[in-house]
Amino acid sequence: MILPIFIASLLFASSSFAAVQDFCVGDLSGPEGPAGFSCKKVAKVTVDDFVFSGLGAAGNTSNIIKAAVTPAFSTQFPGVNGLGISMARLDLAAGGVIPMHTHPGASEVLVVVQGSICAGFISSANAVYFKSLKKGDIMVFPQGLLHFQINAGGSPALAFVSFSSPAPGLQILDYALFGNNLPTELIAQTTFLDSATIKKLKGVLGGSG
Ligand SMILES: *[C@@H]1O[C@H](CO)[C@@H](O)[C@H](O)[C@H]1NC(C)=O
Repeated sequence: MILPIFIASLLFASSSFAAVQDFCVGDLSGPEGPAGFSCKKVAKVTVDDFVFSGLGAAGNTSNIIKAAVTPAFSTQFPGVNGLGISMARLDLAAGGVIPMHTHPGASEVLVVVQGSICAGFISSANAVYFKSLKKGDIMVFPQGLLHFQINAGGSPALAFVSFSSPAPGLQILDYALFGNNLPTELIAQTTFLDSATIKKLKGVLGGSG
């Protein structure tokens, strides 16, 4: 008799969470808040909301970092809204690099599909963890920590990454410091770099001031 009572109590307990939905495809016409987008009406949801075909093609690596990140976050792929997950594709041409950056909202796991990639992160205690990864290797980057990926071979490298959030966020340290109009003097005071170096980096990364 105990088991049926136990099962009945489980059913009763789960019914108290009746508000849980199967999914919440993002309604991109509305604003995005801390909890993501509001839900598209279920009657308007189709299978295409749960499929994203944009990671099949290489991103354009004709740029200063010789690399491209193609995101499938909730903004591009509204089906992941509310599910706590997302993905992206990394293309690194020979000599390519994803500069030091952080995703404030997500941990990341990277799988190398082609080529080799030197990847690493820096802990909040400033311990460094980096390694040259080959095809099939995966590496995890804990949430919020600064990390990077560098093509470690002479040929194009390809990786796919997944995130523990549909909106991981991305801040690239180099652009945060040298890609805007924060006055050179303040950057010098806060980084201990000399003004000439800062102006040079601003020139390369699109900053001014
Ligand atoms: C890649 O980007 C470069 C620089 O923005 C541009 O000149 C080029 O046309 C792009 N190539 C493709 C295939 O879109």
